[in-house]
Amino acid sequence: MREKIKKIEKEIEGLSAKSIEELEQLRIKYLSKKGLLSGLFEDFKNVTQEERKDIGKLLNELKNSLQDKINNLKQKFDDLQDSGKSDIDLTLPADFIETGSRHPISIIRAKIIEIYSRIGFTVSEGPEIEDDWHNFSALNFPEEHPARDMQDTFFIRKNPDIALRTHTSSVQIRVMENEKPPIRKLFPGRVYRNEAISSRAHCFFHQVEGLYIDKDVSFADLKQVLLYFSKEMFGEKTKIRLRPSYFPFTEPSAEMDISCFLCGGKGCPFCKHTGWVEILGCGMVDPSVLENCKIDSKVYSGYAFGMGIERITNLKYEVKDIRMFSENDIRFLKQFGSVI
Ligand code: DAH
Repeated sequence: MREKIKKIEKEIEGLSAKSIEELEQLRIKYLSKKGLLSGLFEDFKNVTQEERKDIGKLLNELKNSLQDKINNLKQKFDDLQDSGKSDIDLTLPADFIETGSRHPISIIRAKIIEIYSRIGFTVSEGPEIEDDWHNFSALNFPEEHPARDMQDTFFIRKNPDIALRTHTSSVQIRVMENEKPPIRKLFPGRVYRNEAISSRAHCFFHQVEGLYIDKDVSFADLKQVLLYFSKEMFGEKTKIRLRPSYFPFTEPSAEMDISCFLCGGKGCPFCKHTGWVEILGCGMVDPSVLENCKIDSKVYSGYAFGMGIERITNLKYEVKDIRMFSENDIRFLKQFGSVI
């Protein structure tokens, strides 16, 4: 019995199969019901009491090594078959993909541009670090003029000629200096003011400026374009109201309100019971601004308007605290995930 076990153990070492069929033959030879191993277990019944323990152990070891050997050989064939296949399991549930969302300021910026682009406006951008000429002087803010105080400015101590732009009106100048009318442009961008940070004011925010310069441009054109914009942005029923105002670079100047889109103009806490909500500043470009940019003010006229993107976004999404826009709080930003 021991001899037979040893012999088979030797054979196991050299076992090999060239095909699955050959392997199956080996399995039948050693492990099937009528195979050599079963035969040995049959013989085991006749083993004497003293030898039973030892031989039993040897037999079990033999059984294990035979099974291991056959399994190993089978694995090799399986691997070989698999190597030609992709290991992607299409039945697995898909990995969760975190989708981002656009920032509400970007959403409204894009919406404003889209509305004006339908009536022929294209986009230009200018630098956020500006010189005095483009931010103030060319826009008719004389040095020491109190109008400059309306925009609390970040200057650079070493060079007071350089400042962080306080409005996107500076881009009007850059474009008028470099392009010939007709000019029909939008200037979106970030602006800076030395304001105490609160729920209503921040030291930086965003504006979109509009400029149209051509022959025979009138205040009626401005009014019509602003009405079109307000209806597209806030709904067909929106009315507008222009109140006389003052900006150094426009004459006449106005501030525009829209009818409150929550109460329809009847008056509610949102519009402080006035029925109107302020949206933007606008006016006819002052002839001296055109001349500063070497555009003949006897031939050309134009209008300009400027609005805060935060302001429009607050109104559209009822955001009550302007600081939310720059705090990167994912719980706030996630709410805009479904807005395209
Ligand atoms: N630049 C002004 C501001 O920041 C906004 C403004 C008012 C822009 C009137 C204009 C305009 O183009 O015509 O307060």
